[in-house]
Amino acid sequence: MREIEKINHTGEVPVMEPQRQFYFMDLAKQYVTQISRKKGRPLTFHVTTFGCQMNARDSEKLCGILETVGFEEIDSEEADFVIYNTCTVRENANNKVYGRLGYLSGFKKKNKDMMIALCGCMMQEPEVVEKLKQSYRFVDLVFGTHNIFKFAELLVRCFEEQKMVIDIWDDTKEIVEELPVERKYSFKSGVNIMFGCNNFCSYCIVPYVRGRERSRKPQDIIREIEKLVADGVVEVMLLGQNVNSYGKNLDTPVTFAQLLQEVEKIEGLERIRFMTSHPKDLSDELIEVMKNSKKICRHLHLPLQSGSSRVLKEMNRHYDKEHYLALVEKIKKAMPDLAITTDIIVGFPGETEEDFLETMDVVRQVEYDSAFTFIYSKRTGTPAAKMENQIPEDVIKDRFDRLLKLVQDISAKKAGALTGSVQDVLVEELDEQQEGLVTGRLSNNSVVHLPGDVSMIGTIVPVHLKECKGFYYMGEVAE
Ligand code: 5AD
Ligand code: SF4
Repeated sequence: MREIEKINHTGEVPVMEPQRQFYFMDLAKQYVTQISRKKGRPLTFHVTTFGCQMNARDSEKLCGILETVGFEEIDSEEADFVIYNTCTVRENANNKVYGRLGYLSGFKKKNKDMMIALCGCMMQEPEVVEKLKQSYRFVDLVFGTHNIFKFAELLVRCFEEQKMVIDIWDDTKEIVEELPVERKYSFKSGVNIMFGCNNFCSYCIVPYVRGRERSRKPQDIIREIEKLVADGVVEVMLLGQNVNSYGKNLDTPVTFAQLLQEVEKIEGLERIRFMTSHPKDLSDELIEVMKNSKKICRHLHLPLQSGSSRVLKEMNRHYDKEHYLALVEKIKKAMPDLAITTDIIVGFPGETEEDFLETMDVVRQVEYDSAFTFIYSKRTGTPAAKMENQIPEDVIKDRFDRLLKLVQDISAKKAGALTGSVQDVLVEELDEQQEGLVTGRLSNNSVVHLPGDVSMIGTIVPVHLKECKGFYYMGEVAE
């Protein structure tokens, strides 16, 4: 049991956000100071992120608050405060968290001041919270996706209540701006443009755990990016479950293409990426804006999920094979140098060999630069979980292997198309494998290794792409 002297809350607790959270950050800071004095050393934290770019961005917000209240980040889970930001898109994501919690409890036995927190998508599932209450009593704090902005307030409750604090909301309309963020990279950043999803693809749990679609106001997004640029950021990744439906529910509706044009105007910003585009509402306006843009990167992630029109209907995707192929053709015609990547699910309930061959056919026709392939995972509460005719494991495995082979063969064939040319590379980090090299990315998201040093990180340099080695290029700075 932690020994903590309760600090008196002085003054009135603000009702408005974000002022309320700043009030709690101040209190949390006093608790952190108190405990670190007692221990004679600073308190440490570690954030472990599972899942997608949205979670990665949320984790930066958690880090921002933990640093503001006086914790120091360390690279190990043997810290005073450990938080898992969880994912639940597939069942194995959940299993990973349970597995690792067992290992964390060992650290907690050695450090009685240690606090363990869980947040993110998995916490929005009632069965998960029930299981934590029953079998993982050593967890100190559990919260979900809708109230992450209240982290400072929950942290204070954790210091004061000394029992498992659980706060899960079903949904929210609130978007709280201006809270601290600690970015992982100094030169690039994710920027949320919207939260939630209204699409209810029949296999997907995201709409249930992330709630309904809410777009941030364009002014707030632009202001955030301007601040990031002033702080050294040259590349932003605009984040939303389906960016193509951005702005539809704002008081003054704005399209995603219009937002992109506003972002393009920000001086000092060099590259714009975005994730994810739903094929059902990718507009001609967007294609036009991308084509004419100097900053939008030559990469589009366009999830296919299945190539069978019958399966797509069952998946509630609102497009068919022909529509998807026609869309890709239109996009390729407008931007021949665009890299296209995708997500594909194998083994959706009722998927026949013929359905699967339709998927293979689309992969062959589109020639994706790369593709994420997933085995269908049954998520309780989604319509697909109740569908009859779930596919046996061995059949799925066989299809998955065939698809993966095709995807890899095509990627290998497509890689290297730019060999011999000079392209801009944003240098991102020192090469992990070899000293004296740095690693960066092309506009089309391909990885490039080149001779260089730490001073180049965050800069965009022209690079002669000398050789393609499988999935990456070797190059050197062009004269
Ligand atoms: N099973 C397997 N893959 C899934 N995805 C979403 N839900 C499931 C599921 N139940 C995949 C989709 C989506 C990606 C982020 O995760 O392909 O595009
Ligand atoms: Fe899930 Fe479909 Fe929404 Fe993507 S668009 S998050 S796959 S429901």
